[in-house]
Amino acid sequence: MLDTLDISIQKVPSSRINEVDFDNIPFGKVYSDHMFIADYEDGQWSDLRIVPYANLSMAPASSVIHYGQSVFEGLKAYKNNDGEAVVFRPDANAKRLNRSAERMCIPEVPEELFMQAMTELLKVDKDWIPNKENTALYIRPYVFAMDDYIGIKPSEKYRFMIITCPVGAYYSEPVKVKIETEFTRAAKGGTGYAKAAGNYAGSLYPAKLAQKQGYHQLVWTDATEHKYIEESGTMNIMFVINDTLITPEASSTILKGITRDSVLTLARDWGMKVEERKISITEVIEAAKNGTLQDAFGAGTAATIAHIKLIGHEGVDYTLPPIEQRAFSNKVLKAMDAIKLGEAEDKFDWIYKF
Ligand SMILES: Cc1ncc(COP(=O)(O)O)c(C=O)c1O
Repeated sequence: MLDTLDISIQKVPSSRINEVDFDNIPFGKVYSDHMFIADYEDGQWSDLRIVPYANLSMAPASSVIHYGQSVFEGLKAYKNNDGEAVVFRPDANAKRLNRSAERMCIPEVPEELFMQAMTELLKVDKDWIPNKENTALYIRPYVFAMDDYIGIKPSEKYRFMIITCPVGAYYSEPVKVKIETEFTRAAKGGTGYAKAAGNYAGSLYPAKLAQKQGYHQLVWTDATEHKYIEESGTMNIMFVINDTLITPEASSTILKGITRDSVLTLARDWGMKVEERKISITEVIEAAKNGTLQDAFGAGTAATIAHIKLIGHEGVDYTLPPIEQRAFSNKVLKAMDAIKLGEAEDKFDWIYKF
């Protein structure tokens, strides 16, 4: 039994929830009433508190602003069919936050601190978990450097925070992606496997160029040769070729997604052939040309499954099979939704209730 941590709670005088149009929630713009904060100093986390969502006050020299020592997580809470609040695999996010933190010289957030902070915050803002189809409460835990110091060294002070926001669907339609062969998201030995803020900043410019060409998102390739597929935007990428589910193997350049792991686990459980291995651009394009590419999708918390409808490579657009014909991605999306909603057995112990 874990010790109960001492978390102080200061509630808002009146909730903003009635200002929110839950039928029409923009992704990542509306925040719930409260946030969690803990401060790290002298080697320990202290002053654990839930307070009204509000702006922060920081020193202009705060090291996170200058040197980007910051990591984050993203997960979702849902209302199941019985009206209970559930969170999908939060323990996996707690562990990944610490893998990211280690790479960025950020102190560990003990798993019980992560879990209790998240749970208490969700209890306070339970009404913000929407219950309509394709909606959720997005949970954003993050840790960042707080030293008031201009100079390159790991900070001594940090802040761990959690904010939450109700969200609707991330993509309103299947996505068009472009295979990126000039810019790089992550290089071997770099920070690609960590959910570090700077990785995302570096991805914006190439993505912007692709968006100007009419694509929604990039497919990143390896930094050395730009021959092998890595990820798609901020999702892991998967293909079904000749009835085999194929995804790039986890490596130092790939963020090991929790959705990725869930999809692979379900596929294996269904007896499907699964391969985690290098997958070349040529293999995917050949399969698209000869009709053996049955399915292609991104897997990540924001969208769960984002069907890829078109792949652009070297100026040619390859249109993939109609979404209705995608047996695997449609089945796995349905299966994951059913587990979250409590319609299917939680065989792998993925659902956290509080
Ligand atoms: C770069 C990157 N890859 C993959 C993922 C998918 O990970 P998950 O399924 O845990 O959300 C994310 C999102 O968190 C991401 O930012």
